Amino acid sequence: MAVHLSLTAKIATYPLNRKLLQIRCDQLLHLLHLEKAEVSVVLMSDAEMAGYNEQYRKKQGPTNVLSFPAEQADDGFVIPEAELGDILISVDTARREAEGHQHTLHHRLTELIIHGLLHLTGYDHERSEEEAVRMWDFEKELFQRLQTSRSATMPFLAINVDHVATVRQARGGIEPDPVLAASLCELAGADGIVAHLREDRRHIQDRDVRILRQTVKTKLNLEMAITPEIIDFALEIVPDMVTLVPEKRKELTTEGGLDVLGNEKKVRKAIEKMRKAGIPVSIFIDPDAAQIQAALDAGATFVELHTGRYCDADSAEDMKQQFRLIEQSAELAFETGLRVNAGHGLDYRNAGPIAALPFIEELSIGHAIISRAVLVGLDQAVREMAAIVKFV
Ligand code: PXP
Repeated sequence: MAVHLSLTAKIATYPLNRKLLQIRCDQLLHLLHLEKAEVSVVLMSDAEMAGYNEQYRKKQGPTNVLSFPAEQADDGFVIPEAELGDILISVDTARREAEGHQHTLHHRLTELIIHGLLHLTGYDHERSEEEAVRMWDFEKELFQRLQTSRSATMPFLAINVDHVATVRQARGGIEPDPVLAASLCELAGADGIVAHLREDRRHIQDRDVRILRQTVKTKLNLEMAITPEIIDFALEIVPDMVTLVPEKRKELTTEGGLDVLGNEKKVRKAIEKMRKAGIPVSIFIDPDAAQIQAALDAGATFVELHTGRYCDADSAEDMKQQFRLIEQSAELAFETGLRVNAGHGLDYRNAGPIAALPFIEELSIGHAIISRAVLVGLDQAVREMAAIVKFV
């Protein structure tokens, strides 16, 4: 491995995504055409960094990053040509800087890794203004190229089959069957099936969920409101997971995330019941820090971040803002220890950037796929979406 990433014991409590940082380090070496180089990146605490800062730079206190290019040792020991050197990063300082700039911790750590790497390759920002500008411009360029390059952390694609049932219910008959549709989705590459059993049974019926429980080979996620009747049904069926959603009789589709803060007791009780039955719980929430914390406090395993506002944005600027909110919320939720899914309103045009976000495990998509399936067939519609989401 070209980049040796290590974390000291002192930062063990930080929920760092080591895999993501390793991927970014490897991608950076690739972008710098340094695939054969050997680099050591050590993530440490402020106290540890202060020790190195004092020892090697005679400066008091910690700093964010230190780079030590590999040099010929005094004793004549020959250092292999490929060895670039060491980068030390204080995660405590990175965390403070991230908060100051309203960035995520992993965003800031990535910037510091880039900065350290450029120092190792001869870039400098202290010798002259011209060199500093050159270095900063290149840092920005590398960061952007990392963000647009697809990583190996592509999420799973879970397909919501509610709208197959919507067409069936339009005539009150038996066609098309969401159960058959779910099998076709799985054959075409879906990683999971989602069905929302609404109180008013407007699309998915009890029968559908019962048969899906027996036929789904991947993972069955039951979307549900917190009502005694549906809770009992979930406990009887035991899906692979449930997603708690708000439900309003008059809405066309789920309109917003669940207000976990305002329904704390109810949510906590429902989660406790599911936990006893061994059913992991996700909560569909708006990308909002207080709701994330409430979901964690209530005992959820996952949150599903509502992507509706991003999808419905009416300007490029608004879309960018909504995207940023989802990006930051995904990382925040991950850092607090939650697993993160996302969904609602995603289509063939807007799903790609969300799929490329590193902390999101799974996208839940329904309407766009079923709509396209009417025109091109379900198999093709699923494969096209899988190509976007999973980059297959
Ligand atoms: N996630 C949740 C919680 C939902 O309620 C829905 C809609 O049923 C979806 C994802 C899928 O949304 P869409 O059908 O717009 O893809």
